Amino acid sequence: PRKIIIDTDPGQDDAAAIMLALGSAEEIEVLGITAVAGNVPLARTERNARIVCELSGRPDIRVFAGCDKPMRRPLVTAEHVHGSTGLDGTELDEPTMPLQKQHAVDFIIETLRTEPEKTVTLCTLGALTNVATAFEKAPDIVDRVQEIVMMGGGYFEGGNITPSAEFNIYVDPEAADIVFRSGIPIVMMPLDVTHQLLCLKERVDRIDAIGRPAAKAMAAMLRFYERFDVEKYGSDGGPLHDPAVTAYLIRPELFSGRHCNVEIETQSPLTLGATVIDWWRVTDRKPNALVIGKADADGFFALLTERLARL
Ligand code: BDR
Ligand code: CA
Repeated sequence: PRKIIIDTDPGQDDAAAIMLALGSAEEIEVLGITAVAGNVPLARTERNARIVCELSGRPDIRVFAGCDKPMRRPLVTAEHVHGSTGLDGTELDEPTMPLQKQHAVDFIIETLRTEPEKTVTLCTLGALTNVATAFEKAPDIVDRVQEIVMMGGGYFEGGNITPSAEFNIYVDPEAADIVFRSGIPIVMMPLDVTHQLLCLKERVDRIDAIGRPAAKAMAAMLRFYERFDVEKYGSDGGPLHDPAVTAYLIRPELFSGRHCNVEIETQSPLTLGATVIDWWRVTDRKPNALVIGKADADGFFALLTERLARL
């Protein structure tokens, strides 16, 4: 299995991404989960990460708390999407598994230094603060990362927190800039693809029908999540963002994209956090990411449902 660290700000869709990974032990080995502030403050995201591990029957997974705010800016959160807990939609027990004492940034550094070179993939589901801080603190680890697979950015679809920015990049554009300039192979799941992964009623019903507690909780969270977006997306379900990352690790053939240059706007108040994707290769700037543009939505939901049934 491929060794990964999941960096996350749960978030109902982060929870789905984590559960998909934990239900896929043949393909994915989760070395640890690092929480970052984003959808809700850090005290909630680390707690939610532990709740999700317990819900998945995996209290043995190590969860670390990381940065409580972006590198150079105040924190922006998204309770309007995820509810005040970050996992609204169902009642979940307080976690009993411990939070690790080590800081998430130090865990990332230590893991990359001790695991063989280029065998660890970083899966980022939130702002890139923990990862970029680790790269600043320990530049030697950059060349040791196998790949970064991230949910973030958007281009043809526009933004979801401002007209031009996607939430994860907007929260910490300086961190995103460091990551996109790192030279590490990046696979990027922008809104352009996650907006194809709609939580249609029959898809959520199939998850619910699994009947086990983890799947039922997931279905309830998905019914809550992005519930205001029915109008916006012209469908009976909002998009599911973060599980695109873990699905890609299991079934890359569900996705297709292009190698492009991606740069991050860090200055303009109007377009802060925009991901400028050179999709049509109109510059000679070097491609630095595989930008995913299309997904097989039915295949994706079939995979998610199959793996949730294992928890
Ligand atoms: C991203 O923002 C968060 O609210 C979601 O969890 C996802 O990671 C989508 O823009
Ligand atoms: Ca997220």
